[in-house]
Order: sequence, then C-alpha cells, then structure tokens
Amino acid sequence: MPSRETWATRMGFILAAVGSAVGLGNIWRFPFQAGAEGGAAFLFVYLGFIALIGFPAILVEFVIGRRTKRNPVGALKELGGDRWKYVGGIFVVTGFVLLSYYSVVAGWFFQYFITGLFEGYTATTPEELGAAFGAASSGTSALLAHAAFMIAVTGIIVAGIRSGIEIAVKVMVPGILFILLGLAAYGAFAIPEASQAYAYYLQPDFSVIAENWQTLLPAAAGQAFFTLSLGMGVMITYASYLGEDRNLAEDAAVIVSLDTFIAVLVGFVVFPFIFQAGADPTEVGPDAIFVSLAQAFATIPGGRLLGVVFFGMVVIAALSSAISILEMLASYLIDEFKWERPKAAAAAGLAVFVLGIPVTIDLVFLDLFDGLADSVLLVLGALLVVLFVGWVIPEDGLDELTTGVENIGSLGSIWLWAVRIPIVIVLVISLYLGATGYLEFLADDFLGWLNG
Ligand code: PHE
Repeated sequence: MPSRETWATRMGFILAAVGSAVGLGNIWRFPFQAGAEGGAAFLFVYLGFIALIGFPAILVEFVIGRRTKRNPVGALKELGGDRWKYVGGIFVVTGFVLLSYYSVVAGWFFQYFITGLFEGYTATTPEELGAAFGAASSGTSALLAHAAFMIAVTGIIVAGIRSGIEIAVKVMVPGILFILLGLAAYGAFAIPEASQAYAYYLQPDFSVIAENWQTLLPAAAGQAFFTLSLGMGVMITYASYLGEDRNLAEDAAVIVSLDTFIAVLVGFVVFPFIFQAGADPTEVGPDAIFVSLAQAFATIPGGRLLGVVFFGMVVIAALSSAISILEMLASYLIDEFKWERPKAAAAAGLAVFVLGIPVTIDLVFLDLFDGLADSVLLVLGALLVVLFVGWVIPEDGLDELTTGVENIGSLGSIWLWAVRIPIVIVLVISLYLGATGYLEFLADDFLGWLNG
C-alpha cells in the first residue's frame, strides 16, 4: 500500500477541520434556527447538545478515521465488514443533497459581496431589504452565483490543493471573528432594542422548552451535527490523514469551542437588528442574516467596506466547508469506481449543481432539501457511526482514543459509556421526531405547493 499523505503541519488538521466546521451553518443557519425555535430555549438545548453529544460524536468519527486511515466507506468496511459499507452510501446521498443547497446559499453571500463591491448597501427599510434578498435568492443571478461557487469548489478538488485551505482558514477565521465582535459591540451600544434582543436570546424560558421539546430536540440535534460537519463521514476523512501523536480529545475541544463561539456570536449580532426592525424573531427565516447585516452595513460608517470584507469572508468560509463535502464525494467515486480524480470531482460537482437548480427557482426546495439532510440524514448518519463504535468496535475505539495521550483517566470509559447508551437514546428520539416532522412538511407544505 502506498504510504498515505498526512497533514503537513500539526496545525494543518485543526485548520482544515475548523475550515469544514465553520461555515454557513454558523453564520446563516444558526440564527434563524435559534430565532424560530424561541431564542434562548433553542440556545440552551443547542449548547447542551454540542457539549454532551456533538463533542463525543466528533471523537467517534476521529477514532474511525485515524484507526483505518481510509475514506469513510473503506473505513467502515475494514472495521465492520461488508454490511457497514452501506452506511457510507447514506453519507454519499447526504453529501449530494446538502451540498446542492449549500452552494445556492453560498451564492447569495457571493452576490451580497458583489453588490457591496460595485454598488454599496443602500436598503434600509424592511421592504427594500426584502426586495434585495428576493432578487439575490431566486432567478438567473442566483443560478449564476450557484454555478460560479460550484466551479470554484470543483476546481479546488480537481487540483487537490490542500495547502490553500490552511492559509485561507488562517485568514478567514480571525477576520470573521473580528468583524462579528465589532458588529456585536455596535449592536450593544447603538441599538436601543438590544436589551430586548438579549433577553430573547439569553433568558431561557423553561416552560417553552417543556412545551416545544418535540421540535426543539430535532432542530438542535440537526443544527449541532450540521455545524460540526458530523454524520456525513467528513470528519472520518479528515482524521484519516492524522498522525498517531495527536491527542484527539484536545483537538476536538479546540474545533468544537471555536465553532460554537462563532455561532453564538452571530446571535449577538443578528438579534439586535431583528428587534430594531420590529420584526417577530420567531418568524425569521433563511433571510435573517442578509436582512439584518445589509441594514447594518447601510447605516454604520465604513459599512460598505466592512460588508464587502465580511461577505467575502463568509464565501471563503463556505468554500472551505463545501470542499470537505465534495472531497468526500469524489474520494468515494475514486475508491469505488476507480475513476481519475478530475473525472470524479467534475462528475460529482456537476451532479450537485444540477440538483441545486430547483432551489434557485423556489425556496420550497430549500426546505425540502434542508429538512431531509438536516432532520433526517445527518442524524441517521451520526446515530449509525455512534452505534458502530459503541457496540461493534468498542475496544478499538477506546484504544484509538487513548493513543497519543499521556493520561486520560476515566474520561475514556465515560466517553464509551455515553456513546453506547444515552447518546443512542437521544439520537433515536431526535431521529424519530425529525423524521415525523419532515413527513408532516411533505404532506402539508410541499404537497400544498405542488398543488399550487
Ligand atoms: N459544518 C459546515 C457549516 O457549518 C457544513 C457542513 C456540514 C460541512 C456537513 C461538511 C459536512 O457550514
């Protein structure tokens, strides 16, 4: 077997994994999920999910990847036999569906970047802001931006440039943090409605949680996996390039904390603007970040420059996430069908582009794809890998977790216990609730849309 590439620097792996994790999930998806699900109630459940389930689950994927040093399909087959390779098939389906609309949304950010560059941000009233979003999110310009984004992603995968990702992440993450901190400070000092916004975002009403847990739980589960790039084999792939000297738990803690910090910070930026506009936070949707930020960049001094830099950086963040998905899809075609890298990447990229076209025509397809990927497929994928490590290869799992670690004490056995029982129970419930919610969406909203 030819010796496999490993990350060029110790930081290389962390940077690539952060690049995959930090993306539209944090900046675009998190704020409207939180808004729609009651603000603080969502934040509370979400943070619990990240710490108690997301963190152990990312270790599960790391362990599989580093143990086998193979792509997800090959890894599951090597450790668990032929039956488990079909889980890899679920990853591939999820990857196609998720990337198709991810690219369309990345195209929206790209258009806001272009607008800032050539025209500046002028919309301030809800009507103007809504019209600008409508123009960017559907029709020819949405289609062209989607095409441009997929060409970029495919080009990077064809060329196989990994070093580029590391540099991009080194610039993008501090840049995004810096601008978000600035905007959050602006909101705190310049927006009178900020205190109402913080109350909505930060003071959980436990009766809301008790009442809405059936939608909160699957929403928080889906968001946690989406934002950490879990349930799709991406972290298995990245960890497969990892040397034995790394402490997996330590690396996971860095990645999870950074990703969570950015998402929570976005809430501090978005909610004050939503309250300032007098909008109902529970009614916000996929336009939330665009409407609130375009307004910010139109009013703040120097806002145009800030906006161009910010939207440009979000496009880079989306690129470094999208690359990790297309890499997984291409490596599957390369390994299973023995295709050449350029052919595999181009075929997968083209298929993703075509699948995303409906999303540029009507946003009902965004709900159709996002609901399927997020409430059903990612949770299913995560549940299966957790079951796999917990019950099929527990000794290998624990052994791999402790490799490269001085002394982990009883943490290893606590992790294994959590993976075997409580996490499985919560994921089964989340999957059941998520799947029934999705079926309801199909029967009501989507059928209704089909019938005109
Ligand atoms: N984690 C990425 C984001 O938050 C999206 C993603 C999901 C990437 C699944 C890879 C796999 O934008």
